Amino acid sequence: MTLGGGRTALGEVTTHNIKQLKKLNSVVFPVSYNDKFYKDVLQAGELARLAYYNDVVVGGVCCRIDLSEGQRRLYIMTLGCLAPYRRLGIGRLMLDHVLQYVEKDGSFDSIFLHVQVNNESAISFYQKFGFSIVETKPAYYKRIEPADAHVLLRAEQKTLRKTNEEQVNHPTVNGTMSNGPTTNNSNHHNPHQHYNGRAK
Ligand SMILES: CC(C)(COP(=O)(O)OP(=O)(O)OC[C@H]1O[C@@H](n2cnc3c(N)ncnc32)[C@H](O)[C@@H]1OP(=O)(O)O)[C@@H](O)C(=O)NCCC(=O)NCCS
Repeated sequence: MTLGGGRTALGEVTTHNIKQLKKLNSVVFPVSYNDKFYKDVLQAGELARLAYYNDVVVGGVCCRIDLSEGQRRLYIMTLGCLAPYRRLGIGRLMLDHVLQYVEKDGSFDSIFLHVQVNNESAISFYQKFGFSIVETKPAYYKRIEPADAHVLLRAEQKTLRKTNEEQVNHPTVNGTMSNGPTTNNSNHHNPHQHYNGRAK
């Protein structure tokens, strides 16, 4: 694909390029991710991608599947682009990849992520793609200001039909839209806590 005069592409994350993802994330995000995070990213298959602009790594996206609260949700852990390469469609390229994955899978209730409440560019970006703020978690982050996080969520239309038996046992998850986490449940688990003790 050609964007802003440059060639863009997505590529897999491998042991050969994972250091580039680490470097990129350390520049783009105010939080640091531990070795377990990157170990899991190497196993994530299509849920992790590097974004290239003229063969240079300029972005990265890492997701994982969250099965808490009786739902199947895709959690975007990181999606970022180097500042000089923003507004060229790199973020869209990465998010489209995620949206296609979810559509192809057909069994996700929603896609969600956390953003710092002052991250206006990310909020505008995600709103453009149908995400909305469904919750604000006070003091979600440690050691960064502001510490509050919005939860951004996009409900998905499940396309996979459940069996009759499943529909009887779980009548509320039979292929309809999910409302997602709309509560102010302060005990809601923090999907980032596996991966760093510092901020998220
Ligand atoms: C959020 C982020 C990934 C967007 O990446 P990007 O490559 O600049 O986004 P795109 O160029 O694909 O933008 C797609 C659309 O999103 C919207 N958008 C993106 N950035 C925006 C901004 N700063 N202000 C308003 N709208 C914005 C626009 O509608 C844009 O389309 P347009 O350029 O045709 O108007 C980037 O700003 C970033 O890396 N931020 C730091 C990391 C981060 O906060 N990630 C989010 C938490 S995981």
